[in-house]
Amino acid sequence: MITKINLLFCFNKYRIMKNKDLKLIREGLAEFYIYTSDNDLIPSKAMNVFYNKRMIINRDISSLAINAYATLFKQDELLIVDSMAASGISAIRMLKECKNIKKIYINDINPEAVKLIDHNIRLNNLDKDFIQIEITNKDANLLFSEIASFKNQKKPNIISIDPFGTPNTYVDSAFKAIQNVNGLMCVTATDTAVLFGVRPNACIRKYLAKPLHTEYCKEVGSRILIYFISRIANINKMGIIPILTIYSGHFIRVFCISYKNRRKITQSFKNFGYILHCNNCGYRYSFKENILKIPKRCPMCYNVECLDYAGPLWVDNMHDTNFLENILLLNKNSKSPNKNRIEKLLTFAIDENEMPISYYNIHKLCQTLKLSSVPKIEAIISKIKEMGYQCSRTHFDFLSIKSDLDLPTIKDVLVGLQK
Ligand SMILES: C[S@@+](CC[C@H](N)C(=O)[O-])C[C@H]1O[C@@H](n2cnc3c(N)ncnc32)[C@H](O)[C@@H]1O
Repeated sequence: MITKINLLFCFNKYRIMKNKDLKLIREGLAEFYIYTSDNDLIPSKAMNVFYNKRMIINRDISSLAINAYATLFKQDELLIVDSMAASGISAIRMLKECKNIKKIYINDINPEAVKLIDHNIRLNNLDKDFIQIEITNKDANLLFSEIASFKNQKKPNIISIDPFGTPNTYVDSAFKAIQNVNGLMCVTATDTAVLFGVRPNACIRKYLAKPLHTEYCKEVGSRILIYFISRIANINKMGIIPILTIYSGHFIRVFCISYKNRRKITQSFKNFGYILHCNNCGYRYSFKENILKIPKRCPMCYNVECLDYAGPLWVDNMHDTNFLENILLLNKNSKSPNKNRIEKLLTFAIDENEMPISYYNIHKLCQTLKLSSVPKIEAIISKIKEMGYQCSRTHFDFLSIKSDLDLPTIKDVLVGLQK
């Protein structure tokens, strides 16, 4: 796959790094150093160079997704921008695990990170390959705007944004830099307290949407992030189709495809909507109409005080089933310790696609109903399907189900199964 290296920027002045200050780590097909003084058990911004073991699954999925993208979207030459690379592990893994890479920008604003990236590239013998590797030490927005200004050069088809916290200030310049048809934008957000409604005003400020701190806040937060990315794409005369939206541990990562077609963009506005939630009885309803038309009284418990809403948010599918099936196939050959978890996450993600927004946590429902035991989720799903309703698992919460059956009847099913 990799045949010869062409390292565009060598940080020779940095190559005096002493190996005794460094600790060797293996991840995927890569090995790399982090600083011995950086405690990778408690990752924080204060590290010399950031590294988080808990994000290995994020990098595993990213490598798989890039290979699936290259195949399904027939991209023979990949130009990748890893705009916030830290130790360079994600980019190095892409170089070792993904096909068709022609050029990669590996960037970080932290000069210490850039020294380590240079060191790690050499450690993996990637400086002897035909792939162009451009290591840069810039603000990501500056890098994106430089790339956007290049004349007569192919634009990158893959951009990865993986910041501390919110990606909100990088998305606009990233869309200016990316290939506007079939580009793959990969955006991570770790400010989950904001997106999940613990800090609602911060969410309105950062993502232009009101969140809800409910049992299904992980889905609401993910849909707000997709909505935000989509609107910023629109400003740049583009639209997006989310092909994989994954929540795991403490991050959300959205993989979406860019397109440039004014009519399609206008049509995509129907993918923006709201969700109504009754804080009294748990009633929920997603809709696309104007927020001013939302009812004051809950249609289920008739309470007038308890209706709340979240949005605007993305109300269409969050994944492309074909894309997920392709990743699942590739995952079968993976040697990652996360292989089984990835399989479970993606199988549930396929399951939840096309299902109504929101989910019900079975353990919480059984607690409310004071049931002495919790029926098996698979039995609940079969029962609801038998009754002629849709029902599925969800990757957002392994103890929850999605269904178009109303909440009181779901409760009846639980009571019935327990008997
Ligand atoms: C969460 S870490 C990235 C982790 C990395 N992608 C990985 O897989 O290990 C965020 C990185 O973004 C860098 N960063 C923060 N602000 C930045 C900016 N404005 N431009 C470029 N890099 C930035 C930080 O120095 C840090 O290394």
